[in-house]
Amino acid sequence: MQSPGRVGTEQILFTRGVPAVEALPAHLIGECMQAVLDAPNGWSILQYGHNGGYLPLRQLLGEQYQVSAEQILVGNGSLHLQDLLAAMLVKPGDVVFVEQPSYDRAIKTFRRRGAKVIGIPLEHDGIDLKALEQAIARQTPVFLYVIPDFQNPAGVTTTAEKRQALVELAERYHFWLVEDVPYRTLRYSGTSLPLLRDLRPERVLTLSSYSKLISPALRVGYLVGPADIVKALTKLAEETILAPVLPTQAAVVEFYKRGYFATNLEQLKQLYAPRLQAIIAALKQYLPNVPLAEPEGGFFVSITLPEQSNSTNLLPRAQEIGLTLSNGHDFFADPLDESEDIASLGARFVRLPFCALTPAQIEEGVRRLATLF
Ligand SMILES: Cc1ncc(COP(=O)(O)O)c(C=O)c1O
Repeated sequence: MQSPGRVGTEQILFTRGVPAVEALPAHLIGECMQAVLDAPNGWSILQYGHNGGYLPLRQLLGEQYQVSAEQILVGNGSLHLQDLLAAMLVKPGDVVFVEQPSYDRAIKTFRRRGAKVIGIPLEHDGIDLKALEQAIARQTPVFLYVIPDFQNPAGVTTTAEKRQALVELAERYHFWLVEDVPYRTLRYSGTSLPLLRDLRPERVLTLSSYSKLISPALRVGYLVGPADIVKALTKLAEETILAPVLPTQAAVVEFYKRGYFATNLEQLKQLYAPRLQAIIAALKQYLPNVPLAEPEGGFFVSITLPEQSNSTNLLPRAQEIGLTLSNGHDFFADPLDESEDIASLGARFVRLPFCALTPAQIEEGVRRLATLF
C-alpha cells in the first residue's frame, strides 16, 4: 500500500470489495493451521471428509444460529454455495428476484444456472415492496436474493419493517428468501436488526462467509437452512467437489477456540470505522448534492449520479485521472418494467468500496471523482 505522502499521484482503486491487506491475520492463521495439523488426530483433516464440511465447524455454527449441525453446509466460500443453491433450485423458465442493484457475481451465477434474473428497485431502506408485489403478481420467483445488512454494492440496510414484510410475502407466495450476510458482523455503529431467519426460518436460506471476517483465501463460507434442503445440497456438493477443504475449516474453529475471532473482529472494526467516516465526509464535502444512504457498517458506499450529470465514458475518464472504478452496469439485472432505463442507471451508479483504502486515499479518490461530473 502506498504511503499517504504519495496519495496525490497514485492510482486509487475503488474497485474491489476486499479486506485491507493490513487486516489479514497471517501470523494467527499460521499458528492455528500448525496447531490443527499437530493435534493427535491431525491427519484426519488431510483425509477425504464428509461433505457437509468439518463437523466441529458445523457444530459451532449450529450453536451460533441455534440450529442443529444437519442444518449447516460449509462450502468453498459463499459464492460456491450460491452456485450450488441455484443449480439445485432453478428449473428452466424460472425467475429469481434480486435487489436492483445487487452483487454482480450473484446475478451472473443465477443467470448461468438458467434463471431469468429480475431486479426489484432497492431504496435507501431496503427493497421497494410495492414493486416486489407487482413482480410477484406477474410471476412468483423461486427465490428472492437479498443482502439485508450493508448491501453490496449499495451499502443499504433493510429496515425491521421491510424484513417483516419480506418474510410475510415469502410465506404467502411460497418462495425462498436467500439472505446473504457476509458483512453483518462488521457493524461500526448502531444496533443489529433481526436476520430474516430469526423471523421465519422455514422460508429462509442464510448464506455467510469468513472472507471478510478472517480471510477470503481460506474459502470458508456456509449456508444455514432446513435440514432437507441442506441434505440435498450436501449431496450435490459431494458430486461436484468430492470432499470439503478440511484444513482451512479446522483452522477457523481453532481461530475461535483461541479467542482470536473476537479480537480480530474488534480490530477490523477499529480499522474500518474511520474509513467509513472518511468516505461519508468526503462525499458530503465534494458531492454535496448527491443523495447518500449512510451505512453503519460493511464495505460499501454507493452513489447514483443525477440524470443531468456527465456519465459518458466514466470509466476511461476516471482512469485518466488516476481512479479505477467498477462498471456500474454489472450490478443491474433485468428490469421489472421494460420502460426502466437500466442502461442509464448503470452508467450513473458508482460503487465505492472503502475498507482497503486509507482515509487519505479515500479523500483524494472522492475529490478526483467529483471532478468528473
Ligand atoms: C454479498 C456477497 N456475497 C458473497 C460474496 C462472496 O464471498 P465468498 O468469498 O464467501 O465466496 C461476496 C464477496 O464479495 C459478497 O459481497
